[in-house]
Amino acid sequence: MPDPIAIRALEPDEVQARLKELAHVLHDCVEGGASVNFLADFTPEQAEGFWRGQMAGLSGGDRRLFVAEEAGRVVGTVILFFAQQPNQPHRGEIGKMLVLRSHRGRGLGRALLDAAEQAARDAGRTLLVLDTADGSAGDRLYRACGWTAFGTVPGYALTTDGRPEAATFFYKAIGR
Ligand SMILES: CC(C)(COP(=O)(O)OP(=O)(O)OC[C@H]1O[C@@H](n2cnc3c(N)ncnc32)[C@H](O)[C@@H]1OP(=O)(O)O)[C@@H](O)C(=O)NCCC(=O)NCCS
Repeated sequence: MPDPIAIRALEPDEVQARLKELAHVLHDCVEGGASVNFLADFTPEQAEGFWRGQMAGLSGGDRRLFVAEEAGRVVGTVILFFAQQPNQPHRGEIGKMLVLRSHRGRGLGRALLDAAEQAARDAGRTLLVLDTADGSAGDRLYRACGWTAFGTVPGYALTTDGRPEAATFFYKAIGR
């Protein structure tokens, strides 16, 4: 039996102490070829730098970080960004939806997304958007979770080994 998984918000003041674990999840996903803004030469130190770079936004309240923990260790992440434009107080965006390769296919992605969607709802946000590599596991996760694909842009980003790849954009209207 695998250990139970807890999904929870990681508070801003906890991030510093958990940097290595967060970095391990991001680095593992990039190493596995996930299209999440980085290329194959991405290092664990750069992954720590990414999470360090989130700390100001988390403390300032323009985003929230949710993690999946197994035995107190981070095995998955998702960030909910609150749109800051004055005319979009109802909108949010999902990013860094990441699950360790060793922990995939167990519902963690769905549970993390549920937590981020619920937090968005609780904050009065009613519309979420995101983009992901076309045909990826993320693409399938979002479709399975009721998101609507509204367009695919050819060559939007590079794969980790440097080839142009299409991205599909999704939205989800989340009622109360
Ligand atoms: C995308 C990702 C977060 C999914 O995490 P996960 O924990 O494996 O997903 P879940 O087990 O919760 O899957 C939920 C549903 O999504 C769909 N799904 C997820 N991964 C899938 C895959 N590889 N193939 C087909 N369907 C998939 C299925 O419908 C699944 O439901 P089911 O298991 O009942 O069939 C994970 O594959 C990952 O971290 N990938 C690398 C990072 C990445 O690309 N993130 C998205 C960037 S926007």
